[in-house]
Parts: sequence; structure tokens; C-alpha cells
Amino acid sequence: MAVLSVNINKIALIRNSRGRDYPNLVRVALDCERFGAQGITVHPRPDARHVKYEDCEQLKEVIATELNIEGYPSKNFIDLVKRVKPTQVTLVPDAPDALTSDNGWDTITHEVFLKEVIAELRTVDARVSLFINPDEKLIAGAKEVGADRIEFYTGPYAENYSKDREKAIAAYKITARFAHEIGLGVNAGHDLNLDNLAYLKQALVYLDEVSIGHALITDALYYGLENTIQMYKRCLEG
Ligand code: PXP
Repeated sequence: MAVLSVNINKIALIRNSRGRDYPNLVRVALDCERFGAQGITVHPRPDARHVKYEDCEQLKEVIATELNIEGYPSKNFIDLVKRVKPTQVTLVPDAPDALTSDNGWDTITHEVFLKEVIAELRTVDARVSLFINPDEKLIAGAKEVGADRIEFYTGPYAENYSKDREKAIAAYKITARFAHEIGLGVNAGHDLNLDNLAYLKQALVYLDEVSIGHALITDALYYGLENTIQMYKRCLEG
């Protein structure tokens, strides 16, 4: 059973655009849970344009499901994770000014750095997941540096889905199995939506979690948040 973690960054972006506390992020997170989300994901970026560090602390106090914090492991980010103690931390290799995450880790080149970071995060009782492309070498590298899970960067899958979905999923299918065999959990995220999610779920025998933000929040404008969360969960049932 793959769980749905709702990424609420876009809600924070709307809030920040007016400089007031509306929509209230904690309330939206609690509503997502009430409507069926099995986790809440936040990605506080260095420029704080959407979720801010203090939001993470407030969310941890109230949410009953899993809190997943994503980010580049800068000193500030690691200190945040140590303070907040989320259920999961997903490390991404983003540059500070990245518009959105658009690549996974090179776990070979950054082996020493990732080992040190993950060892430091071990002082917090959080699962550590590494954002990664579907490549066996890099996934083996994720295991080597001590990650618990990988999160597939599914941007390329989503981009190629409408052209040839079998081809688009092929590498993910093979490497998800490989990740499972070497003892890693498998998450997936980026550009997943109501069109491409069910096929991803059916194709990947091993899939623990998807985290979805942009499309889900956009769909909620049309279908409402409660319906939308239920629609995404139905995609994961197959
Ligand atoms: N996973 C990671 C590491 C991300 O950076 C993002 C975007 O913040 C997502 C998943 C969710 O992507 P999307 O907003 O396209 O659903």
C-alpha cells in the first residue's frame, strides 16, 4: 500500500503573497489529514518563499500523520531537522535558488558528504530518504551512504508519460525492484498527477509513498480539497 503525503508548499505560497496568516497552513494540514492524507510534506527553501522554518515547527506540534521535510542539507536545514524531529527527511541536491527540484543526487560523487550528513541526522529518530534518478549505481550508492529510502525524481516519467508510458516507466520499474532487494524503501515524487499516478502505482511493485503538491493543490481548485485527496488515493489503490 503506497501512502499519499500531501505537499503543502503551494498553500504557503498563497499565504505569503499577502503577508497575512491566510490560508492558515496548520489548518490546511489538519484538513488534509481529515480528508485522508497519510502524511504532510513541506519543502522549506532557503529564500522562504513558501514554507518557512517556523511553519515546520508548528506543523510538527499538531499533525498526527507523518511529517516529511525536504531540503538541501545545509547547516541551517540540518539544525531545523534536529529541532523539529520529523518522521522523514528527504534530502535533495537543489541549488539555493532552484525553482523546483529537478534532479536526484549523484551518490557516488557526493558519497563522503552524504555519509557525514546522514550520520549526523541519525541523532534524530527520522527516516532518511534521498531524492534520486532511476539508476542502479546511484541507488546502490544511496544504500552505501546509509539512506533508509530513496525518492524517485519522477519529473522525466511525467514528461514522457503521454508519449509512451511503458517506455517512461521502464527504468523506474527495474530500479524500484533493485532498491527493494538491497533493503531500501521506495518513495516517488514530482509532477505526479491524476493522469499519471495510477499507472506508476500499478507498474511499481514496491512503492511506499508518493508526495504530491503542485497538481494536487491545482486540482483542489476545481474539485475541492477533500474530493481531490480522495481521487489521488483512489489512484493508489490499484
Ligand atoms: N519531491 C520533491 C523532492 C520535491 O522537491 C517536490 C516539489 O517540492 C515534490 C516531490 C512534489 O512535486 P510536485 O509539486 O510536482 O507534486
